[in-house]
Amino acid sequence: MKKILVLHYSQSGQLTEIVNNIAAPLMANNNIRVDFHNITLADPFPFPWPKQDFFEAFPETFRQMPVKVNPLPQAIVNTTYDLIIFGYQVWFLTPSLPISSFLETNDAKKLFKNTPVVTVLGCRNLWVMAQEKMKKKLLDLKANLVGNIALVDRHLNHISVITIGPWMFTGEKKRYLGIFPKPGVSQQDIDNATKFGPTIATHLLNNTLNTLQDNLLQQEAVTIKPFLVTTDRKANVIFSKWSQLIISKSKKGTPKRSKLVKIFKYYLLFAIWVIAPIVFILFLLTYLPLYNKIKKDKAYYASVAYK
Ligand SMILES: Cc1cc2nc3c(=O)[nH]c(=O)nc-3n(C[C@H](O)[C@H](O)[C@H](O)COP(=O)(O)O)c2cc1C
Repeated sequence: MKKILVLHYSQSGQLTEIVNNIAAPLMANNNIRVDFHNITLADPFPFPWPKQDFFEAFPETFRQMPVKVNPLPQAIVNTTYDLIIFGYQVWFLTPSLPISSFLETNDAKKLFKNTPVVTVLGCRNLWVMAQEKMKKKLLDLKANLVGNIALVDRHLNHISVITIGPWMFTGEKKRYLGIFPKPGVSQQDIDNATKFGPTIATHLLNNTLNTLQDNLLQQEAVTIKPFLVTTDRKANVIFSKWSQLIISKSKKGTPKRSKLVKIFKYYLLFAIWVIAPIVFILFLLTYLPLYNKIKKDKAYYASVAYK
């Protein structure tokens, strides 16, 4: 009997639905036992988000400064699992703060050590650098990343920027103004996530998890968009400076901090609507000379390797 732990955190329930769909075929298999746990915080983040709270979460999330996570049940912590399916979302180009905080706990250290892990992302579309941060964390925990499934909003980047706000600020995943497409991962992609379950089961039961990602990629578990990788990389450099500035120049809960966070918010809007289109033109101009590097990067970011 193989044992799988499905661990995740979700605010809207989108990621819950995704990991549950992946797990459904595994639960139906008599040779596999599946346990579930939802990560929770001692002091939870609100959902729907008040606007100011949303941007207030930026500096600590980006710098991965842990908050208190509720302990896992002892029955789970004391079990040795053959595989962990680990669902997480991206906040500000980084694993969300509940997730990065959980990875700092003793529970995580015990569970992840020497254990194969499949990461499952449910996010807007900027996840590649967050997954690099996740790869590094898993390496530090001596876990063995064997697979990655990244489900994203497939609409144009700027459309998904417009539609995610109303979802996050009202809690309702519906068509903004009745004209925009629904935000987040499409219901079709969420429903189709069941297709990954049998692939995971086969590799787990045949002890071939080392080749799992090749088969997940054949099932389009991951799509790498080179322009989004460029945006993600450049934005990480800028976010690093902003988060450092806000944390070093102000204290949480003070008017100065609120002011700096507000300036960051306006900068972000400027970056999305003015800088990103310029970066896109530069990207197109350099596409041919950089073609080989872009191709290599695509293969690397789709893989479970870390360099
Ligand atoms: C504070 C915050 C920041 C986010 N930043 C990103 C981001 O940088 N990249 C991205 O692809 N999605 C981002 N998202 C979207 C989330 O990854 C995720 O899709 C959404 O919050 C729904 O996840 P849930 O299952 O927790 O409800 C952000 C969401 C929140 C709340």
